[in-house]
Amino acid sequence: MSNMRSLLKTCVCLVVLLASSSFSQPIPGTIDSASALQHSREAAKKLLTTMRTLLSQQLAAGGAVRAIDVCADSAQVVGERLQEQLGVSIRRVSMKWRNPKNIPDAFESAELKRFAELKNAKALSDTSEFFQIVTEKDGRALRYMRPIIIGDMCLSCHGSREKMKDLIYSSIQQRYPNDKAVDYKAGELRGAVSVKMPLDGQKR
Ligand code: HEC
Repeated sequence: MSNMRSLLKTCVCLVVLLASSSFSQPIPGTIDSASALQHSREAAKKLLTTMRTLLSQQLAAGGAVRAIDVCADSAQVVGERLQEQLGVSIRRVSMKWRNPKNIPDAFESAELKRFAELKNAKALSDTSEFFQIVTEKDGRALRYMRPIIIGDMCLSCHGSREKMKDLIYSSIQQRYPNDKAVDYKAGELRGAVSVKMPLDGQKR
């Protein structure tokens, strides 16, 4: 019995060792995939919580028209700050985009499609995540995505026309003439946070 136990222990140690060695790559300028994943996760979480806090503060303080600037400008500013702090590129993407800057690339579109299928099968929540190491022409990168789900708070700017005040509707129309990000209902998939982190020290 005790032999069995020590054998088990050795196995566990081996697995831990193997796992950590396959993650660490001590080549200068490279980042191992485990810490890239940790950074990407942290960045996605920070972007989501910061946006949610800023939005609810602005909605409470100045009404939705001021909050438009939060959703519009803060997402970009927060994204840039996270890029500096954590070395990731981060943005929000959606198949039904408001800002053309948030149009998904091929990787993101495929993943958004899969998120939508999982959502239909009730197998997706706002803590779900997806990541993959991809090789591109300038080196390897970790790509990380996390779904964004519509809540009640979002409907004043992403709901049906009747749910949107005239002033909000017209400000959004004016700022984003090709807006597609309306007619959502609470609980629907809105899009995703998308993070990309280079692993081989290449420029972002
Ligand atoms: C006060 C209006 C307002 C509210 C409330 C609001 N948004 Fe937005 N949302 C916008 C605007 C404006 C943009 C365009 C942002 C940009 O330029 O990047 C946007 C963009 C987005 C995007 C980026 C993709 C795209 O379509 O360009 C996502 C994702 C998003 N909103 C999700 C949400 C979620 C989830 C909520 C609720 C928690 C929410 N929004 C609440 C106004 C709002």
